[in-house]
Amino acid sequence: MKALILVGGFGTRLRPLTLSMPKPLVDFANKPMIQHQIEALKDVGVTEVVLAINYQPESMLNFLEEFETKIGIKITCSQEPVPLGTAGPLALAKDKLVDGSGEPFLVLNSDVISEYPFKELIQFHKSHGGEATIMVTKVEEPSKYGVVVMDEETGKVERFVEKPKTFVGNKINAGIYLLNPSVLDRIELRPTSIEKEIFPGIAADQELFAMVLPGFWMDIGQPKDYITGLTLYLNSLKKRSSPKLASGSHIIGNVIVDETAVIGKECLIGPDVAIGPGCVIETGVRLSMCTVMQGARIKSHACISGSIIGWNSSVGQWARIENMTILGEDVHVCDEVYSNGGIVLPHKEIKSSILKPAIVM
Ligand code: GDD
Repeated sequence: MKALILVGGFGTRLRPLTLSMPKPLVDFANKPMIQHQIEALKDVGVTEVVLAINYQPESMLNFLEEFETKIGIKITCSQEPVPLGTAGPLALAKDKLVDGSGEPFLVLNSDVISEYPFKELIQFHKSHGGEATIMVTKVEEPSKYGVVVMDEETGKVERFVEKPKTFVGNKINAGIYLLNPSVLDRIELRPTSIEKEIFPGIAADQELFAMVLPGFWMDIGQPKDYITGLTLYLNSLKKRSSPKLASGSHIIGNVIVDETAVIGKECLIGPDVAIGPGCVIETGVRLSMCTVMQGARIKSHACISGSIIGWNSSVGQWARIENMTILGEDVHVCDEVYSNGGIVLPHKEIKSSILKPAIVM
C-alpha cells in the first residue's frame, strides 16, 4: 500500500520554530512530527510514502534520505511548482500513487498526531465498499475544521462542510483518509481543495464514509495545541505501559527524556515534559508541561512551564519561563529573567524580562 502526506503550507502558526525547520521536521515528543507518521505507516505495511511538498525541499530531502535507509521504507517527493492546495497534489502524484492493482492509498495531513489506527481504517474501508473513507473525531470547537454529518450506524457521510460559519455538528475531519484510485479521476491538476471541492462531491454520490477515530487526536500546528498534543500523546504512552516513559523520584506524571540528556540533582520534572537529545538540565530545575528540544541547556533553579524551548537554546539560572513562551533556535535567556508568553525569534539573547505575551524580534 502507498501513502501520501500533505506537507505544504508555511507553518506560520508554529513560528519561531518553523523559521529554522519546515514544520514536519519540528520535533514533537523527541522526534520530527513526520517521523511519527512514517513509522506508523510502515507498521501497517505501507511500502512507499509520497511527500507532497511545496516549500523548503532541501532540508526535507536531506533528512528523508537518511531516514529512508534507517527505517526501511521508500520515500519520494512530489514537488509542486505552485501550491496546489489539499487535492491538487494528489493529481500531481497520480503516477506514484496508482500502480494498476486498484489498491486504495492513504492520505495524511502532516500536522495531525494520534495513535494512527490505520489497521481499523483499512478494515472499515473494505467493509463498506465506498470510494473514500475519512477518519473523524469529536471536538468542542468545530468551526476551525471540516465538519462531517454522518449516519451513525453505517458511517455514510451525508454532508461535509469545511470550516462552517454556523453549527453543523461536532464530528470533524481528522485529516486521515483512505481513498480508492477512482477518487483521482475527480481531481483536476490545479490548485484545489479536497475538503471544499472533492469530499462534498463524493458525499453527494453517497460514496464517502467516515469512521470515528479511536484514541486521542490533535492538530499540533499551533503552540497551544502542540502542548496539549504532548499531554495526550504521553498519556497514550502511559496507557500502553510504554517503556519510553521516565521514572524516578524526580519525575511527576508522564515524562520522556532522551537517553543522551543529562539531568542534574534535585530537579522536579513533569507532568507532560519531553526532553530531547543532548539537553543538559542543571541542578534544582523545575519543568512542567513543556518541550525542551535537542541541545538545549536549562541552568540551575530555572523554572519552565507551558512552554517550548527550541534547539540549542539556553535558559539562565533562576529564570522563569511560562505561559506559552516559545524560544526559537539558539535563543539565550539570561539569569533571573522572566518570560510570560514571549515568542522569541532565533539567535537572540534576552537580557530583560518579557512581562506580557509579545513577539521578540
Ligand atoms: N503539498 C501541499 N500543497 N500541501 C498543502 C497545501 C499545498 O498547497 N496547502 C495545505 N497543505 C497541507 C498542510 O501542510 C496540511 O498538512 C494539510 O494540507 C491541511 O492544510 P491546512 O491548511 O493546514 O488545513 P487546516 O489545518 O486549516 O484544516 C485541515 O485539517 C483539519 C484537521 O486538522 C482540513 O483538512 C480540515 O478539514 C481538517 O478538519
